Amino acid sequence: MPADEYELSLARNEPCWCGSGRKYKKCHLAQDERLAELARAGYQVPPRKIIKNETQIDGIRRSCQLSKEILDMVDSRIGVGVETQQIDQWVHEYTLSRGAIPAPLNYGGFPRSCCTSINNVVCHGIPDQTRLRDGDIVNVDVTCILDGYYGDVSRMYLIGDPSPLARELVRVARECLYKGIEQVRPFQRIGDIAYAIEQHAKRHGFSVVQEYGGHGIGLEFHEDPFVHHYGEKDTGMVLVPNMVFTIEPMINAGSYECKRLEDGWTAVTADNSLSAQWEHTVRVTEVGVEILSE
Ligand code: MF3
Ligand code: CO
Ligand code: CO
Repeated sequence: MPADEYELSLARNEPCWCGSGRKYKKCHLAQDERLAELARAGYQVPPRKIIKNETQIDGIRRSCQLSKEILDMVDSRIGVGVETQQIDQWVHEYTLSRGAIPAPLNYGGFPRSCCTSINNVVCHGIPDQTRLRDGDIVNVDVTCILDGYYGDVSRMYLIGDPSPLARELVRVARECLYKGIEQVRPFQRIGDIAYAIEQHAKRHGFSVVQEYGGHGIGLEFHEDPFVHHYGEKDTGMVLVPNMVFTIEPMINAGSYECKRLEDGWTAVTADNSLSAQWEHTVRVTEVGVEILSE
């Protein structure tokens, strides 16, 4: 990110670049000065184009809330014997009935409206005729486009009576998501999220997938920044208010390594161990974090 984007280019009384209609001096001036200084000192700072305005935040929040509602609907129907393509059909129909579009459908050629990732599947499982069986753990990942805005959320479901290990993995993966979310506040850094997640996973003897991560989101499905779920504190991009991104750690019971199946999408653990993932879309607020998809 070029430091010069934050070097003062607007006069104090001009309208702010963010489109708020407020004078620059009453809006982003102080933050820009701070970011310019950080950029000069070598920190990675967010480009302006990934900082959302109030109109965009409202739209993204509505889209996230719809995605959450869709998972609530799935909650009430999922169980032993359900085919993953039935889940896809519920998601597809519910999304359209609310005037939205399922973002996964045709995204880079993805053939369905949501992802369903069972047991050793890390992410991007394609709904098909597979029936959920007693003891399975499954992630359902839903992303809506509502009025042009994206909202992304996923949950794990326990089908029937999974093993103690499977249950623990699902619980720890969820805790990892919330440990990551706890790190989100202005001028904290992306690596702090990663570090908190990795430490929690390791404490329980689990590993963190490296190949896939969270992502900026809102006007597109996948925007900058890439959100690592493993790594070091005090590294990576500085966070500022109204950045919106997902945190979606994939936690494996065995090795962190993944491989991709012939279908070009389905990621599975290299050692066939279990994998679990939870996801939220979050916004950096003036003082901390808002979970848009909760
Ligand atoms: N929803 C996934 C994510 O959290 C992305 C799915 S891309 C798809 O980023 F094409 F597989 F749907
Ligand atoms: Co998702
Ligand atoms: Co996502």
